Amino acid sequence: MKRKVKNNVYWVGKIDWEMDSFHGDDYSINNGSSQNAYLIEEEKTVLIDTVWRPHSTEFVDNLAGIIDLNKIDFIVANHGEIDHSGALLDLMRAIPETPIYCTANGVKSLTGQFHHPEWNFKVVKTGDAVDIGNGKKLVFVEMPMLHWPDSMATYMTGDNILFSNDAFGQHLAVEELYNDRADHYLLWSEAIKYYANILNPFSPLVKRKIEEIKSLNLPIDIIAPSHGAIWRENPLQIIEKYYEWAQDYQEDQVTIAYDTMWEGTLQLANRIGEEIATLHPQTRVKIFNIAKTDKNDIMTEVFKSKAIAVGSPTVGNNILSSVSGWLAFLEALKFKNKKAAVFGCYGWSGEGNQVLREQLENAGFKVVEPEIKSHWNPGEDHFNKAVDLAKALCE
Ligand code: FEO
Repeated sequence: MKRKVKNNVYWVGKIDWEMDSFHGDDYSINNGSSQNAYLIEEEKTVLIDTVWRPHSTEFVDNLAGIIDLNKIDFIVANHGEIDHSGALLDLMRAIPETPIYCTANGVKSLTGQFHHPEWNFKVVKTGDAVDIGNGKKLVFVEMPMLHWPDSMATYMTGDNILFSNDAFGQHLAVEELYNDRADHYLLWSEAIKYYANILNPFSPLVKRKIEEIKSLNLPIDIIAPSHGAIWRENPLQIIEKYYEWAQDYQEDQVTIAYDTMWEGTLQLANRIGEEIATLHPQTRVKIFNIAKTDKNDIMTEVFKSKAIAVGSPTVGNNILSSVSGWLAFLEALKFKNKKAAVFGCYGWSGEGNQVLREQLENAGFKVVEPEIKSHWNPGEDHFNKAVDLAKALCE
């Protein structure tokens, strides 16, 4: 089965309603996903990307039902990660001589994973082009660190389609394929979650790459990413949104994230939230128990926030392991230009706030005063400090 995208370009990927995680279990998927692969049948027949390894047999069988595999003139591997290259092994068993166009880093990635250095790799760099007949060309654009060093996009002239691979994608199953047919709430919440949790560390590169793409003045009628909806209605909207997200994005929001042992730190979290809502009613406040909430969802809220408050009780001269792990992920996402405050309860030694402060500073946050450090359960003096903490975060 193939589904027409435009003229002689077809979608031949996998809508993956059962996919529930990505990067192992590091990224939660709640609304399915897809691995979009595309078949171009001009004078040349070209396959752009494949699917995740568990769907390899289904993918190759389907492709063989559409065309004689020997008619594929070449394959474009925009990115070597296994969710896009997972069917290459089976495919190359059938058509071992077929050229694979990819970046120099793509050769390293594909060879490292599949151990077939004899595959017929054609290394391309930005600006290289291949004629595919009928007056059309494929032009390659390296996209290093969007989101792996080997990533690239492929632009098809004539039909004006940008095959952007991971960039501009979402982990979202859209059976109808297109952004104008997708559930818009889900489309945008999954797009921002994807950016916050996968692309944010590379925001300076995203900004520069978008400026480079804009300067080329390419007509873009369709953006065909490798996950989720294909952008055919106002496709430039997702490029504009990425440009906004790539520049230390924030809304008027404060996110409070904590874990608690006996609910003292929970009481502080709620009081800080109440004080912010009272003092700054225009500011959106969200409060999450780190141990009970999907970490990717909290990170999406951190991405939207101008400030965060993080709380943990002291335990074993340290903080709760749930908060430690969460802070390690926070540091990896390289958020910029955001404030933070710390709070927590302790019974004996009380190092928790200092650990929180150091880890938040390492993660690039500006930690403000005051902190709230409650010996045993919080009392009125601690709750009163929540007023000053709320002011410091919001002003
Ligand atoms: Fe969709 Fe980087 O893999």
